[in-house]
Amino acid sequence: MDDIVISLQDVSKSFQRYAKPFDRLRELLAPQIAKSDLFWAVKGLNLEVPRGQTLGIVGRNGSGKSTTLQMVVGTLQPTMGTVSVKGRISALLELGSGFNTEFTGRQNVFFNGQMLGLSRKEIEDKFDCIAAFADIGEFLDEPVKTYSSGMFVRLAFAVAIHSDPDILVVDEALSVGDEAFQRKCFAKIHAIRDAGGTILFVSHGASTIIELCDRAVLLDRGELLLDGNPKLVVDKYQKLSYAPPSKAQELREEIRRINGREVMTFSHKELMIVESMADAPSIIQPIAPRTPMRRKDDVRLKAYFDRHMRPPETTAYVARGAKICDPKITTLTGEAVNYLVGRDEYLYCYTVKFDRDVTQVRFGMLIKTISGLELGGASLVGRSYSVDLVQAGSVAKVKFRFKCLLNSGAYFLNAGVSGTIDGHFGYLDRWIDAAMFKVQVEDFSHASGIIDWMVDPDLVIYDGSHANALPLASQPSITD
Ligand SMILES: Nc1ncnc2c1ncn2[C@@H]1O[C@H](COP(=O)(O)OP(=O)(O)O)[C@@H](O)[C@H]1O
Ligand SMILES: [Mg+2]
Repeated sequence: MDDIVISLQDVSKSFQRYAKPFDRLRELLAPQIAKSDLFWAVKGLNLEVPRGQTLGIVGRNGSGKSTTLQMVVGTLQPTMGTVSVKGRISALLELGSGFNTEFTGRQNVFFNGQMLGLSRKEIEDKFDCIAAFADIGEFLDEPVKTYSSGMFVRLAFAVAIHSDPDILVVDEALSVGDEAFQRKCFAKIHAIRDAGGTILFVSHGASTIIELCDRAVLLDRGELLLDGNPKLVVDKYQKLSYAPPSKAQELREEIRRINGREVMTFSHKELMIVESMADAPSIIQPIAPRTPMRRKDDVRLKAYFDRHMRPPETTAYVARGAKICDPKITTLTGEAVNYLVGRDEYLYCYTVKFDRDVTQVRFGMLIKTISGLELGGASLVGRSYSVDLVQAGSVAKVKFRFKCLLNSGAYFLNAGVSGTIDGHFGYLDRWIDAAMFKVQVEDFSHASGIIDWMVDPDLVIYDGSHANALPLASQPSITD
């Protein structure tokens, strides 16, 4: 098919493994008494990636993810099978690849850029953008061997995404950077994706794979065990990772059977368990008083402002008739803050200056995660707020009051104003990543994930005699 840009057919890769370093030398000198094993890092892999797809690859350490990526990029040749790739490919592989550590960062931008297929002139033109994206200051003129892993990734990623790739390959490296840098990278990954680029993405972050990818594959001991939608693949990967070794083989068989016929529905057996639990009488009295597990509110955190924390890059649309200014988060009393406390209320505010008459005006906001997942937003619709017409010269003060029902982490905000000018409705001004904030970590929080559901846990423990009378459902088997 025309639209397949990456194709791996029956690809296998073996490495020689030596029990002792000396064995490697012995093999060179006297192959007849060699002491090496042939180790298959990738076995019979078949994979086709259509143009524009974002494919996630998951699997435990040593499952063959990096080896696969390196064969796609061409830094490793398959032992058997064929790999074909169409288009310019740019990769952010594991630390160290593609850079000469004796060279300075500046020299490496040229060295690496040329490896990625850019001409010297193209690199010169892009150099300032690359340096600004990497943001490593004077380290740019120091040898790369003096870099921290964070600095290294900043520079490597900056070069990779500025080479206008048709295919971008990212191997776990992003987890090294801080949140602001990660957000900047994800914004670029989204941009490459929106422009029709194809992405191969290895990550240990389950939620990142689910949010970002259209499809995922699970590699296990060099074998492609499952190919399907990201949620299913991540679920099975986690189940396999946490399975006791005695159950792993059985579970692998199960997952192999799913492959090719994805089922997301509950099995009949699971439904039976749910039903039998619903029927259970709830009259048994606990022998112990209910254990309070509520979060302790006596140690209250306080919201504050850190002027060093800002969104890494704000993208503003070309304004048309109105201009957004000064987006910020404040407390209800108007004090600017960017380190928030979960469950407290805040205002997200910005000002809009109108230089044209505009009708049907709407003001909007949106909160996103680092990887760009849209968590939720709101808009003030013109009609219900009597702003059917805003006249040129007016200034609007927009405030969105919200309760911060988010767990600790970094979040990013958009701001947008839309309306009709000259009979055309659309954005008048829009800022992507207009502001960022972090929700502070709370010592006594047992919450997980992104959203704080304000869960109020409750625990009852029955002693043995009472427990026998409880209608307990059997343990779900590993096939569920
Ligand atoms: N150059 C090499 N020589 C010998 N073994 C290697 C080499 N590269 C990778 N391997 C082995 O191949 C297996 C797969 O490695 P890799 O692709 O890096 O896995 P992953 O990226 O999934 O953690 C591992 O067991 C690793 O030790
Ligand atoms: Mg790896």
